[in-house]
Amino acid sequence: MKPIRLALVGLGKIARDQHLPAIAATPGIALVAVASRNARLDGVECFASVEELLAGVADVDAVALCTPPTPRRDQALAALAAGKHLLLEKPPGAAVSELAPLKTLAENRGRTLFAAWHSRFAPAVEPARAFLARHRARRVTIIWKEDVRVWHPGQDWIFEPGGLGVFDPGINALSILTTILPEPVFVVGAQLAFPANREAPIAAELELATGSGLPIHAAFDFRQSGEQIWSIAIETDAGSLVLSAGGARLSHDGQALVDEPEREYRGVYGRFVELIQTESCDVDIVPLGLVADAFMLGRRSIVEDFAW
Ligand SMILES: NC(=O)c1ccc[n+]([C@@H]2O[C@H](COP(=O)([O-])OP(=O)(O)OC[C@H]3O[C@@H](n4cnc5c(N)ncnc54)[C@H](OP(=O)(O)O)[C@@H]3O)[C@@H](O)[C@H]2O)c1
Repeated sequence: MKPIRLALVGLGKIARDQHLPAIAATPGIALVAVASRNARLDGVECFASVEELLAGVADVDAVALCTPPTPRRDQALAALAAGKHLLLEKPPGAAVSELAPLKTLAENRGRTLFAAWHSRFAPAVEPARAFLARHRARRVTIIWKEDVRVWHPGQDWIFEPGGLGVFDPGINALSILTTILPEPVFVVGAQLAFPANREAPIAAELELATGSGLPIHAAFDFRQSGEQIWSIAIETDAGSLVLSAGGARLSHDGQALVDEPEREYRGVYGRFVELIQTESCDVDIVPLGLVADAFMLGRRSIVEDFAW
């Protein structure tokens, strides 16, 4: 079978760190073009915008959008209207309501739309889900604390409206949480800390719950120095399950069950190829809805200015 001819839009940090190596390692898909306003890539056709790319290369089958969430809606509409399969980086949009029109357009055109939640492909996620299908969770504590200056250097978009602030990484924890728990989650309340000079929170505390009354607390912070923490601890009726390192590790009562190198984006591109081959869509907006609810229910505090 001919490989899927892929174009990548937004050649920034995640495109270079993860997408390019994962595409190269995935059978059935090949990168043929890039659109980025300021960056070029050797060996493929380069354009300044998705519109120029779509007009310039006729035989692109699929597009991966690696731009920040705010410009992504118009790029997605253009790619789907041109009949391309589409992969959206997380979060799938800057607003929850953007996704339904994209899904409708994809379905009407018979194309794949994939809202990729990369953290769901971390190696600890499926074993954690299987454990929690067998054992009852009693309490969940999420700690997702990283240094924004290390992981998102100079990315001013992250503190703009639609950039999600600390929910940009925090939504990864929510994407895992909503995969591993056997029942839906809702937001009870939130505390959001906004720097006085920015439009998005730099830290957040969330109270969440499930219909059966499982209490879930999440602490997200972009001001973390020293140890970087991406962990979900679940007290269960069969001991303590801890997912750490963003999902690369899993332990049960202190004993390691999983400890593997990061390989999430191999999973993302494997799934994208599978969805295209089976003419399917995968668009889960639940994690984005939880973030939106945190903004709707959150109490706001103003904290000191943020500068890079
Ligand atoms: N950084 C991470 O660790 C990470 C991990 C997983 C997922 N993600 C997700 O991936 C997405 C991109 O993040 P990133 O870290 O790669 O950001 P980034 O380094 O800022 O790269 C995004 C690229 O998109 C282009 N771009 C920026 N603003 C644009 C605009 N208004 N219109 C069109 N193009 C624009 C820029 O390239 P040009 O200037 O050349 O156009 C930029 O280099 C985000 O949704 C983020 O949540 C990031």
